[in-house]
Amino acid sequence: MAQGVRFVTGQIKLSVCCGTVNNQCGDQQNKEELQWDIHGVRLLRAILQQESRPMKVLFKNIRVLAGVHDSSPDYVSGAAMADLPVMEDAWLAVEDGLIADYGKMSEWPGISDWRELEVIDAEGKCILPGWCDSHTHLVFAGSRAGEFTDRIRGLTYEQIAAKGGGILNSARLLRDTPEETLVESALQRLNTIMMQGTVAVEIKSGYGLTTESELKMLRVIRRLKELHSLTIQSTLLAAHAIPEHYKANPDAYVDEIITTLLPRVAEEQLADFIDVFCETNYFTVEQMERILEAGAKYGLSAKVHVNQFNAIGAVSAAVKHQALSVDHLEVLTEEDLQALKGTRTMPVGLPGCSLFIRIPYTPARRIIDAGLPLALATDFNPGSAPSGNMNLVNSLACIHMGMLPAEVIQASTLNGAYAMGLSQSHGTITPGKEASFIITRKMQSLDEIPYYFGDNPVEEVWVKGTRVTGLETRGE
Ligand code: NIG
Ligand code: FE
Repeated sequence: MAQGVRFVTGQIKLSVCCGTVNNQCGDQQNKEELQWDIHGVRLLRAILQQESRPMKVLFKNIRVLAGVHDSSPDYVSGAAMADLPVMEDAWLAVEDGLIADYGKMSEWPGISDWRELEVIDAEGKCILPGWCDSHTHLVFAGSRAGEFTDRIRGLTYEQIAAKGGGILNSARLLRDTPEETLVESALQRLNTIMMQGTVAVEIKSGYGLTTESELKMLRVIRRLKELHSLTIQSTLLAAHAIPEHYKANPDAYVDEIITTLLPRVAEEQLADFIDVFCETNYFTVEQMERILEAGAKYGLSAKVHVNQFNAIGAVSAAVKHQALSVDHLEVLTEEDLQALKGTRTMPVGLPGCSLFIRIPYTPARRIIDAGLPLALATDFNPGSAPSGNMNLVNSLACIHMGMLPAEVIQASTLNGAYAMGLSQSHGTITPGKEASFIITRKMQSLDEIPYYFGDNPVEEVWVKGTRVTGLETRGE
């Protein structure tokens, strides 16, 4: 069954061998080629689930099993970030989509019940929790490659935004794009990041910038949650830029978000979190505080864009509102650092954005050496980081942020899971958590994951106890 499922533009093409679907193996006559439009994804998934996958899977001879915790902490901080718990020469058992148990091969208890059991030899390979990407904007209508060339010619991200490009450019494009087209392109992006090892992802709105268009984006994200097997969290980021028609009175847009949009988002249960781009020429600290207060009334925790270009007091304000995460932090004052101490707010670094628009990298060493935690995420978006590749993010964090491979693995798994409210189910190899993990290709040590930068060290991805890489691929 594994081969034959391909995503193609606008439709799903599925080659079904009856031999694997209903156990009449090898009969060429019974081969069918089915084509569905995008609504067929649901059917496709139903068929994949019907594939008689054993309820139990046992991985043996694992060179390194990483991120093992008998019971998982919510996140790791400071010196503990370099202390990635690993087990060498290990086995891992999965049952009903969850991690059941693990141990050393030398203490292998043997198999007493072979029913519905698949055994996989992972000799020479590593298994680690899948990447948890806690900050993306991966629903968007088209690329901004033109701005990329403008930047190469010398314009800055801020100059491009000032002349009507940037976020407003994406908002114009999105407004004219049908919901189904947005779903389709986002599904392809989800497949791509899944094949690169991501198992859980947060997606923001923020290219709507009107009540109707923001709701449209959030409904697209809801559809993605229904259609895709990755775990998806949704964030309302209506306060991403001041829309053109509110330029003269930005407070009126904040009022619209609070009084019109938020109640509708809450009523339709469209968001898990609330976000604000708190930055010079975008939203002030005071406006952010009003929005976070209003969001909290509807039970939405904050995950905010702060300190990307300027430190304007947004970190301490976000902490005051018990933000779950503060993201970007390319500019970080001593005051900001102190404000984070003793809190449960997760700092999040986005090195793909620093690379792409050539701004400073988040000072990871200052953060971790101050005893704080740090998560890493892609910021996948068409303007400042058009890549959802967590493997690249990990390499950049080692090369440019001075993080150790063990630190980036914890930052991109457990701490990323925490930064999107998923540390109970994701981020570590812990009995009872989702069996969503990466099997690497054969390697000597985990350090090779960030070392081979620009490469994909992932051989297989398992999501909720099912192998997904190789089942879903892009294009013809
Ligand atoms: O996180 N900084 C604000 N938002 C995005 C960029 C979005 C865009 O340029 O489209 C970011 O970098
Ligand atoms: Fe962002």
